[in-house]
Amino acid sequence: MAAEQKPLPFGYTFMAGAIAGVSEILVMYPLDVVKTRVQLQTGKGPASETYNGMLDCFQKIVRNEGFSRLYRGISAPILMEAPKRATKFAANDKWGKFYRDAFGQVKMNQSLSVLTGASAGATEAFVVVPFELVKIRLQDKASAGKYSGALDVVAKTIRNEGILAMYNGLESTLWRHILWNAGYFGCIFQVREWIPKADTKKGQMINDVVAGSVGGTVGTIVNTPLDVVKSRIQNTIKVRGVVPKYNWAFPAVLTVAKEEGFAALYKGFLPKVLRLGPGGGILLVVYTGVMDFFRKMKDDQEKAKLV
Ligand SMILES: *[C@@H]1O[C@H](CO)[C@@H](O)[C@H](O)[C@H]1NC(C)=O
Repeated sequence: MAAEQKPLPFGYTFMAGAIAGVSEILVMYPLDVVKTRVQLQTGKGPASETYNGMLDCFQKIVRNEGFSRLYRGISAPILMEAPKRATKFAANDKWGKFYRDAFGQVKMNQSLSVLTGASAGATEAFVVVPFELVKIRLQDKASAGKYSGALDVVAKTIRNEGILAMYNGLESTLWRHILWNAGYFGCIFQVREWIPKADTKKGQMINDVVAGSVGGTVGTIVNTPLDVVKSRIQNTIKVRGVVPKYNWAFPAVLTVAKEEGFAALYKGFLPKVLRLGPGGGILLVVYTGVMDFFRKMKDDQEKAKLV
């Protein structure tokens, strides 16, 4: 991640990550709604409400519930994407420096970029859990009439289940983000090593789209089972004295595999990978572009000072 380029202070990496995140969400959000619907579906209902895959789900939502439903629940992710992506990139930058110093390495290498990504993912998870919980509960069809909006989910969750319930699903979220970011940043490093360096701006953009998309795809392949169980853990209303069916991440993965088959662990995979593959590309391009812009801006400021 621009590790060998001139470093910029924390505020800049944070801002660049935020801009990248908002750009990505505006393009990709409807796929996320579809993904959650498919993941939460456990049995068969009436034919008009049963989704046979992503496209079918997409069409049925638009036909039965209206186009705007594809953007239902976006206020939480918009508010979340900025801090979340900002945390992802700023943490990756910071952990990268930390590990290079700790191991006395001047340059990034493959194993360090995986370790850096994993650490950035763990950092990110702490920021995203409450936002994710609100989003999952708004996206679930069963709860369409239950909550009037994001703040209502927060109020009802705290009132009925206690404030700690907002961190329901922390453990599975940690795993989901550790795996995704390790895959994402690890692949970006590797793909950038493999493909020829570009010497034009456009060439560099294409390289970033490719590296980011491969990273997003691989991250998604490794983390989807954890995402499925995370959706279910967070969608479960906590009842005092009852051990929830889905509780810890890896046992829940086994439960789903045993009861519904291995394929169930990849429920919602297609919309997710279509979102996070290209989404990973959009993120990296916007992030790199904004960082270049900031670098140039600072250079110009410094030059102006010298004159
Ligand atoms: C990367 O650097 C670390 C720390 O110096 C080292 O332990 C590791 O083996 C290196 N990995 C690769 C793939 O070169």
